[in-house]
Amino acid sequence: MHSELYQSGQIGSRKTLNRFVAQAMEGNDGADGGAPGERSIERYRKLAEGGWGVVILEATTVSPDSLARINGFVMRRENLEAFKKLVGTFKKTNPDALLFFQITHAGEKAGSFSRPTALYARPEGPPPLSEADVEEIRKAFVGAALLAEEAGADGIDFKICHGYFGCEMMRPANVRPDRWGGSFENRTRFLTEGIGEIRSRLTNPDFILGARVSLYEGIRGGCGTAGADELTEDLEEMLRLPGLLKELGMHYINVSAGIPGRTSEITRPTPQARWFYLHLFRYARLVKELGTGLTVFGSGYSLLKEKGPELAAENIRRGYTDFAGWGRQIFADPLFPRKLMQGDQIDYCIGCSGCSKLMVRQLNDGCSVYDPYYKDLLKAR
Ligand SMILES: Cc1cc2nc3c(=O)[nH]c(=O)nc-3n(C[C@H](O)[C@H](O)[C@H](O)COP(=O)(O)O)c2cc1C
Ligand code: SF4
Repeated sequence: MHSELYQSGQIGSRKTLNRFVAQAMEGNDGADGGAPGERSIERYRKLAEGGWGVVILEATTVSPDSLARINGFVMRRENLEAFKKLVGTFKKTNPDALLFFQITHAGEKAGSFSRPTALYARPEGPPPLSEADVEEIRKAFVGAALLAEEAGADGIDFKICHGYFGCEMMRPANVRPDRWGGSFENRTRFLTEGIGEIRSRLTNPDFILGARVSLYEGIRGGCGTAGADELTEDLEEMLRLPGLLKELGMHYINVSAGIPGRTSEITRPTPQARWFYLHLFRYARLVKELGTGLTVFGSGYSLLKEKGPELAAENIRRGYTDFAGWGRQIFADPLFPRKLMQGDQIDYCIGCSGCSKLMVRQLNDGCSVYDPYYKDLLKAR
């Protein structure tokens, strides 16, 4: 059953256990200063036990002032030992599962407890970042990637999705008149110079470089439109990005879409808007069919419950994606791949949005249906 999902895959020079990807999911349970805490470490230990081929560590900011969640992770030297402990526990549980750190800056989505920034002027927004400020953020991405390597991660997932800083840079709406805005070349400079420097400073030749990309954001001037004042989908430009990632020596692209909180269902289909998963499938297929040689991860399988593995296997078989990623399902049942293989009973995500509500309320985040800790937390507020 679903044999394609259990076949080993290839990302860069690394072989994977299978084609299951545990997508990044913020647990908002870091300790003071953004280090992973005991609860965080246990969450990732469970995913290692669950037999996912690839696990992506949740959004981890590159500086303490770029947080979207009050207890989010921050990649800085003070937190290195805690990240090493997380990786050590994960690898001890399952040495063959790959662990990539998603590195990000929350940009305009930073919380009021942090420092929301603006790349380009907006009414009532903070003043736009200077050219030098953007360069500082680029350096912070480089520093975070190198620290991830030092912590023992197998790679990074460079965040260009869901409305965070990486997406803001890429948008046609980014009409900054300096080297960071305007042309496609300028809007991708942050990535090209960032990855270029990361590659030149890494010491592990097998370290994996990937990016999670919102192909279409669904906002005016957003990624996947043809201009600063355009709203409808035009993927011409975003479909140039995978080729660029490949040229930069990157290994995979994790295809997503939308902006949670603004165009939420495009990112995560809900029972009322379940057909959006078809768009997520289509985006992964479009990228895969470019034939760049990048490994492609698809998304949007959680709401499909039992059907998810079947459709994931079909998409792999037909060459529409290489790997299949689950988001909310990793909260609902972190042991999902292992249980599926063994024929054990699985707790399927029902798409109730309980975890999204916990996130919006800035509480520790997990499944409020199957885990009593999060159930009580949601009830209490
Ligand atoms: C509570 C919550 C936290 C999330 N955190 C992240 C994150 O840290 N990074 C990221 O790229 N996506 C994040 N996502 C999006 C998921 O990774 C995934 O793309 C989305 O839920 C759709 O997949 P699914 O239908 O399998 O859940 C989050 C989603 C939810 C609901
Ligand atoms: S809280 Fe609801 S949406 Fe979130 S993982 Fe659990 S069942 Fe799925």
